[in-house]
Amino acid sequence: MSDSVEKIKERLGIAEVVGGYLKLEKAGKNLRARCPFHNEKTPSFFVSPDRSSYYCFGCGAKGDIFSFVEQFESLDFKGALKLLADRAGVKLEYERGSFSDGKAGREKIFQILEEATGYFEANLKLNDEARNYLQKRGVAEKTRVAFRLGYAPDEWRSLLTHLKNKKFTENDLEKTGLIKKSETGGSPRFGGASNYYDRFRGRLIFPIADSAGRIVGFSGRILEGKPDDAKYINSPETELFIKSRILYGLDKAKAEIRRRDFAVLVEGQMDLLMSHQASVANTVASSGTALTNEHINLLKRFSNRLLLVFDPDEAGFKAALRGAGLALTRGLEVKVAVLPKGLDPADLILRNLTDWKDALKNAIFLIDFLLAKILNKGYDKRQLAKAVEKEVLPYIASLKSRIEQSHYISEIADKTDIKEDALWAELRKTTPVIEVGKGSPPTLGANYGEVKEKLTKRELLERRLFGLLFAEKDKKLENELKNIFDVAEFKTALEFWQPFREEVVFEAEANWGDGISEGEIAELLVNLKNEKLREKFLQKTKELAEAEKMGENIRVRKLMEECQKLSKEITNY
Ligand code: CTP
Ligand code: MN
Repeated sequence: MSDSVEKIKERLGIAEVVGGYLKLEKAGKNLRARCPFHNEKTPSFFVSPDRSSYYCFGCGAKGDIFSFVEQFESLDFKGALKLLADRAGVKLEYERGSFSDGKAGREKIFQILEEATGYFEANLKLNDEARNYLQKRGVAEKTRVAFRLGYAPDEWRSLLTHLKNKKFTENDLEKTGLIKKSETGGSPRFGGASNYYDRFRGRLIFPIADSAGRIVGFSGRILEGKPDDAKYINSPETELFIKSRILYGLDKAKAEIRRRDFAVLVEGQMDLLMSHQASVANTVASSGTALTNEHINLLKRFSNRLLLVFDPDEAGFKAALRGAGLALTRGLEVKVAVLPKGLDPADLILRNLTDWKDALKNAIFLIDFLLAKILNKGYDKRQLAKAVEKEVLPYIASLKSRIEQSHYISEIADKTDIKEDALWAELRKTTPVIEVGKGSPPTLGANYGEVKEKLTKRELLERRLFGLLFAEKDKKLENELKNIFDVAEFKTALEFWQPFREEVVFEAEANWGDGISEGEIAELLVNLKNEKLREKFLQKTKELAEAEKMGENIRVRKLMEECQKLSKEITNY
């Protein structure tokens, strides 16, 4: 595997990979852009082609092409590896054989899921009933193929048998969630051979992929006319299938979300298929689950604008609203498209494609939607005030921008005759829809950020000089630093800065991209020496004060001499 990593790194330059996602501009020998991992107006995200690494001064994000793709696409390392391997045209060698360790185990689960997807696909082609059903729902061949739709035969162990023939063990298969163990123990129905059976039977299969396009789970729909308990059943949560982190269709939608700079969120798989088929390829589906913070993190990678599709009469409306509020608190711009009563996107598209596009075109901002909703109810003034307080203000409180808040407060005042002052006073008492936990942006190198906050004047100088030292590997500078610090101090300083090597080099390069003069270095060194003396002086004066308090006369005299000597050295500069 590490062979592949090296090969990929050789073939893909960091400027090429990052440049595929961001607009990079030249900055000395590095490149820079606005950081994709935090909100900023001025670019502080730097890429070094020489060192194949990136660093953001604003949020501390740093790493190589793999970590960039991991963070940007919200993938794990394997996912990023697959994506970059494809781009570099490097074939990944999966280790076969021993699957006992974690990583290899994961890889095997992926293989099984892939094999199962192929099996379901093949079975759909053979099953007229399932294909007729798709046709009736308006799903085109092209869509079936693109989304790798399948069919699980209506038998107890067809997939299980297929996969066992491929030499996968029941133990491995169970980890994929594709098979279940009978509650009643070894069943005579299966000839006593095994008490495992297929989870999905007689169902249309929607393979569910992570954002890199690897299948991680399945959803299965009964065909019409089949009596069964649930319309849909889904893979259970597994190591790979974590529902709070999966948006159906994201792998296919992400490029278009970025291109059009908004995502359309629908609820169901069918809605998603039909929306993509209708060329609204920036659609993702929440698969009937409430929108989570993690979903929002995923979406924010690609755009900060979200269009939700609401059926305001349905039971799930409240849950959908909560998701919308959550998105607001995370700084997303949220719009709402309202569909004709009783129709979901799939129904609507099947009936009339342009109605769907019109609904999207006519989407309005969430808060305007909420306001319009209560204004239409014919409330008296008191009822209206109550409704504003309960149904609108929580969403305004969720807005991150004061300016936006103020915009809506004026608008409400205009439309309801409630005084702005009263609205503001009420707003201050209102809690946002959902208090977001102190969720920090995903796994960024926060440590250096923390360190940076607390640096003393001496450390700030050290930071520059060690940055230069690391960047240039200059022997002369090293010797000069060793003169200022004694040997032990130099070692301590080196140990302090070593973990932040990447950061300080980028900082040095950002400051002196076009080279630094001898004179500037000399000045930094002088300042550092002076600052060290100052620190020592301060330390001694503290000790002096203590000694005086304790009446330790001899120590007092000695410390006074030292202080005088130090102060003279300092003023000598
Ligand atoms: N869902 C589920 N389990 C169920 C019912 C629904 O997981 N028992 C999820 C599915 O992802 C489904 C979504 O919730 O797509 C929305 O459910 P629903 O509106 O009931 O179904 P539709 O998407 O409209 O499905 P269809 O059009 O095929 O009837
Ligand atoms: Mn439907």
